[in-house]
Amino acid sequence: MRVLVTGGAGFIGSHFAERLLADGDEVVVLDKLTYAGNEASVPHAAEFHRGDVALREDVEAVGGVDAIVNFAAESHVDRSILGPTEFVRTDVLGALVLVQHAHERGIRLVHVSTDEVYGDVTAAVREDAPLRPSSPYSASKAGGDLQVLAAVRTFGVDACITRGSNTYGPRQYPEKLIPLFATNALDGQPLPLYGDGRQVRDWLHVQDHCAAIEVVLRSGAPGEVYNAGGGDERENREVADRILELTGADPSLLRSVEDRPGHDRRYALDSSKLRALGWRPERRFEDGLAETVAWYRDNRAWWEPLKSGEYRAFYERQYAERLRS
Ligand code: NAD
Ligand code: TYD
Repeated sequence: MRVLVTGGAGFIGSHFAERLLADGDEVVVLDKLTYAGNEASVPHAAEFHRGDVALREDVEAVGGVDAIVNFAAESHVDRSILGPTEFVRTDVLGALVLVQHAHERGIRLVHVSTDEVYGDVTAAVREDAPLRPSSPYSASKAGGDLQVLAAVRTFGVDACITRGSNTYGPRQYPEKLIPLFATNALDGQPLPLYGDGRQVRDWLHVQDHCAAIEVVLRSGAPGEVYNAGGGDERENREVADRILELTGADPSLLRSVEDRPGHDRRYALDSSKLRALGWRPERRFEDGLAETVAWYRDNRAWWEPLKSGEYRAFYERQYAERLRS
């Protein structure tokens, strides 16, 4: 197949592009190269187009493909609290443009979504649980999902949605919990833990997440939603303690700071629908986290340049006051 991977210069999309190429597919990457996109992450064997998924003409300029997998998104909750408009543009309008394109071309769209659309939960949820997004990010992702599902129902578009849980691994931009804490620990900088640090996330290794999306691309039923949870729930403070141990950093770097507004306490997914298609996560969190921290230790050249310029401005805005008080 010739597959359009949107957001393929980002964290999960770039691993997914590598995976399809290894399986013998052709890959075309369309990416706007926002602060989170890195052209160096796009595999050399992929065709690269710089463009915006929310612009029809940019999507049409890519030419003929057999399927689309949409990773393009504004993806960070804290940034969505600071400024939600771009999230609506890319995560809602971008999903609409792509599902319309899939309809016109008669091709499959796999839309990559998130467990955050369900809001916080007290027990593992299935795909038919109500959407109760808490943040501007998750509200935008839910809006994208609803556009895709409406196009399935109204126009019979061949589209599937995946809802993966918190993902970690090499090449994740150092604003999310694991890469932020790993790189700060390696630099002897504080690790800002929000609130009581007892919020729970269900961690999924990036390779397992990509495997889930590939199963849906190849054998998902049209119109269906599939949860993909790591099945490895951890409190944030446990993750932080483990990162301190793995880096050998001073435990006093861990700082309890003012909580994120609207912070979801727990995400947990029932992934039995996808498991029935043969998928299951293979990486244990202990091993995956140790490998990931080792990757950040060994690849300073990848992340050090990212922690300047725009990143510094974001970091100041997000953390300076929190770390002072
Ligand atoms: P990321 O922020 O690392 O990458 C996003 C990519 O999209 C970047 O390369 C960026 O340049 C590109 N992009 C942004 N706006 C664009 C636009 N308008 N047009 C074209 N490209 C654009 O994100 P990620 O962590 O790799 O997440 C990928 C997808 O997976 C997202 O849809 C996200 O919601 C979803 N997801 C992420 C996680 C996670 O823990 N990271 C978990 C579940 C689901
Ligand atoms: P994050 O990686 O931003 O993913 P999400 O909010 O999409 O789940 O955060 C994971 C958890 O870690 C979440 O409960 C918020 C918490 N967190 C901190 O305590 N401090 C931080 O600096 C960050 C970025 C996250």
